[in-house]
Order: sequence, then C-alpha cells, then structure tokens
Amino acid sequence: AGEGEITDYAFPHEGPFGSFDTLQVQRGLQVYTEVCASCHGLSFVAFRNLSQPGGPELPEDQMRAYAEQYEVFDETLADGEGDFRPATPADRFPQSSLANAPDLSLMAKARAGFHGPYGTGLSQLFNGMGGPEYITSLLAGYEEPPACAPEDFEGYYNVAFAAGGFPEECVDEEGHHTVPGSWIAMPPPLSDDQVEFADGSPATVEAMSHDVSAFLMWAAEPHLNARKQAGLTGVLFLAVLAVLLYLTNKRVWAPVK
Ligand code: HEM
Repeated sequence: AGEGEITDYAFPHEGPFGSFDTLQVQRGLQVYTEVCASCHGLSFVAFRNLSQPGGPELPEDQMRAYAEQYEVFDETLADGEGDFRPATPADRFPQSSLANAPDLSLMAKARAGFHGPYGTGLSQLFNGMGGPEYITSLLAGYEEPPACAPEDFEGYYNVAFAAGGFPEECVDEEGHHTVPGSWIAMPPPLSDDQVEFADGSPATVEAMSHDVSAFLMWAAEPHLNARKQAGLTGVLFLAVLAVLLYLTNKRVWAPVK
C-alpha cells in the first residue's frame, strides 16, 4: 500500500488541557447537516446529545427543532403497521443513505493520521492518533489526477487516502507508488463557500474540513472534555497527596533519625 499525505492540523481539543471549541463544533454540525448527511449516517449519535455539555451545546429548543427536520420510522404507529413521524430528542441520526458510504459516528477514532516510525508508535505518542487530522486532510486532499494515470481510471484522486484503487501505470519497477494517496469512491464533497456560517467564519474547503473534523471528533468521543478535567483533577490531587505524605513521613521518623 502507498502512503497518504496527512497534515498535522492544530485542534483546540488537543493536549492535556485541550477542550472542544463549542463554536467550531457547531459549525461542524452545520457542515455535516448540509453536506455529509446526504450520504453518510451518524447512527450512534442521538439528537439529545447535541444539547449535552462538551459538544455543540445547542439550547434545548434548537435541538428539538433540529431533530424535527428528520423523519424516523416508528413501528408502534398506525396500529402496529408503522409510519413515519418527525424525530424526537430520543431518536438517533439516520444510517448512511448511500450503501458504500461508511457511518461517520466513530470515524474520527477509526482512522489514524500518524504512524511509525517503523511501528514504534512514537509519532502517535507525541502527535496523537490523528483521526481528525486524517479527515481534514482527506476532505482537503483532492487533486487533479497525476499524468501517469489512465484518464478513465475509476474514482477521484486524493493524496490523503491510502486505501483506495491505484493504477498499475503509477507503480515503478520496484513496486513503489510514484504518487501519494490513491483513488477514492467519494466525490469531492466540499467547495469554497458551500455553507454560510452564522458566526462569519471563513468557509474555505480547508476551514470547513477542519470544523467538520472537530465535530466528528466530538461525535466519536463526546466525553473528552469531562475526561480531561477528571484527569487533571486526579493528577493535582495526587500531587498534593504526595507532598503531604512526604511531610508526614518526615515527622513520623524524626525521633529515629
Ligand atoms: C468515505 C467523510 C461527504 C460518499 C468517507 C470517509 C470519510 C468521509 C472520513 C472514509 C474514508 C476512509 O475510509 O478512510 C465525509 C465528510 C463529508 C462527506 C466529512 C462531508 C463534508 C460525502 C458525500 C458523499 C460521500 C456528500 C456522497 C456523494 C462517500 C463514499 C465513501 C466515503 C462513497 C467510501 C469511499 C471509498 O471507500 O472509496 N467519507 N464524507 N461522502 N464517502 Fe464521504
């Protein structure tokens, strides 16, 4: 397999003190809703999650109004025959409507942006797994197909996607790929100014990719903020405890030493 080109984008949720940027996650929800949702599902996320702390944090009424845009099939309606009704906060986002488009609920944790060097995992230790970096690089990674490829080669050339089809013409005698990335079945979903953000943020392909990746990271790890806060509290507590134990130890052994 070849290598994808992954850029190490900076996200506010990175590092031991990082937390999600609410406005960015909200913009990402907008990009998902207006663009990605036409093919990709988000079936592990419930609408009520959109109001939870540490995510898009939509006010309750906005979240209810958002849910009502979706129709779900309810088996209990129409005397057990089932019928469609508007979704409620307890319902989940639909599944993918396009059979070969994967569900995006856990995508940010299912893909790694960083590897190696040579299987040591050191890159991931310092840079993180790189799931959101991978998704951003993928969405912003579409380029004109290289000259070596036959014109009718199936798919769209993407420099970040390593797992797709690859034409023999672009492989050298030693079996190495002469160009990065591969050909993906997803057409380039984003173009500049495709969405209009209420907070006036720029809507370049890269900016929208960045925002939707932050949103998908939240979808895959909704309790990240709480986890980091608990970790920090724990470390501070243990640090204070260590000092107290040291002083206690000194005092207890003072008569002997
Ligand atoms: C695959 C994200 C919009 C169709 C993927 C993958 C991701 C992704 C992360 C997985 C790549 C991998 O396997 O490593 C997104 C996002 C979108 C979006 C964030 C919105 C900005 C769309 C749209 C369509 C689509 C609008 C349909 C026209 C597909 C298909 C695949 C795919 C068919 C499978 C590609 C393959 O395995 O070759 N998408 N997508 N996506 N997406 Fe999208």
